Amino acid sequence: MMSALSGARVVVTGGAGNVGSHIVDGAIAAGASEVVALDALVRGVPENLAGALKTGKASLHEMDIRDREAVTAAIEGADVVFHQAALRWTRCQESPRECQEVMVDGTFNVLEAAAAAKVKRVVLASSAVVYGEPEALPMHEDQPLNGTTFYGSMKVANEQLARAFSQLHGVPATTLRYFNVYGPRMDVRSRFVEVMIRWLNLIDEGKPLTLFGDGSSSVDFVYVGDVARANLLACESSASAAIVNVCSGVETKMRDLAALLLRLTGSSVGMEFKPQPEGALPARRVGDPRRARELLGFEAQTTLEEGVTALIEWRKRALSGT
Ligand SMILES: NC(=O)c1ccc[n+]([C@@H]2O[C@H](COP(=O)([O-])OP(=O)(O)OC[C@H]3O[C@@H](n4cnc5c(N)ncnc54)[C@H](O)[C@@H]3O)[C@@H](O)[C@H]2O)c1
Repeated sequence: MMSALSGARVVVTGGAGNVGSHIVDGAIAAGASEVVALDALVRGVPENLAGALKTGKASLHEMDIRDREAVTAAIEGADVVFHQAALRWTRCQESPRECQEVMVDGTFNVLEAAAAAKVKRVVLASSAVVYGEPEALPMHEDQPLNGTTFYGSMKVANEQLARAFSQLHGVPATTLRYFNVYGPRMDVRSRFVEVMIRWLNLIDEGKPLTLFGDGSSSVDFVYVGDVARANLLACESSASAAIVNVCSGVETKMRDLAALLLRLTGSSVGMEFKPQPEGALPARRVGDPRRARELLGFEAQTTLEEGVTALIEWRKRALSGT
């Protein structure tokens, strides 16, 4: 079957980031003729695009999505836009106004430019954070949005803006609510890194892994390669204005993740349990993968053990510069 991306001109905002750079690789593999990664390089790094740049089909434009004219020029002539650029949730809590300028005004710029270019599809990254404390498990797309963070509220705005542009300008848009994404090209250098990287750093330092409460809080981890594939599948679907979970549907307790990291690294640093902090994340999180299966034909394929093994190997190479 001919892919919707075959011969397509593709733009990926946040294209030097973790998910974005995997989408760039996937779009090239699916036959895109040209892939433009737009990124302000606040978190992503050009090395993430090394392989893609070598193909001669990808280019990196260092650019801020708050720059309306630059966004319009970059998206002109595109067939498909994957919108991934965003700030980390911690940054949004520290600086809500900057968050709204990047994630709401910036997203508006991207959607407006996509509508002007009459693209065939926009795929946007949202987050399971919009659910806040889940009403039911597994978390399905129609449950109330109980989020309480600035980051989550901006993602809800993104989802609704996409639906509004879709309705008014006929831009087919698919919004994907990612659960906890992990895998090669995760940020390993910033002030705030995700839990797997934090724990791998502790293992390197010979310190115990820090868990809160009894470590029974849970997360739905989804491998970055699977997330990129969900984005590509969204282009093959005729669904418009859909909002879809991208999750593994597997609930993993934090203490089981810690045990897996210790086993895979052969480490004996052990675990240290601390009291649960105020305002902690929901105690249990697991996504409902059914709509993704029905609408996109998407199912996560990478097991946590396979994905974490790939992450550990990649991180070793990334930190040694090889
Ligand atoms: N990683 C996760 O667990 C997770 C979970 C849910 C949703 N998401 C969402 O998925 C998307 C991709 O996340 P990721 O993990 O790849 O994060 P990432 O930080 O690796 O990628 C985001 C990219 O956006 C870029 N960026 C930030 N502000 C920008 C701006 N003003 N203009 C242009 N580029 C800018 C950053 O430099 C970065 O490269 C984001 O929208 C994020 O909110 C991620």
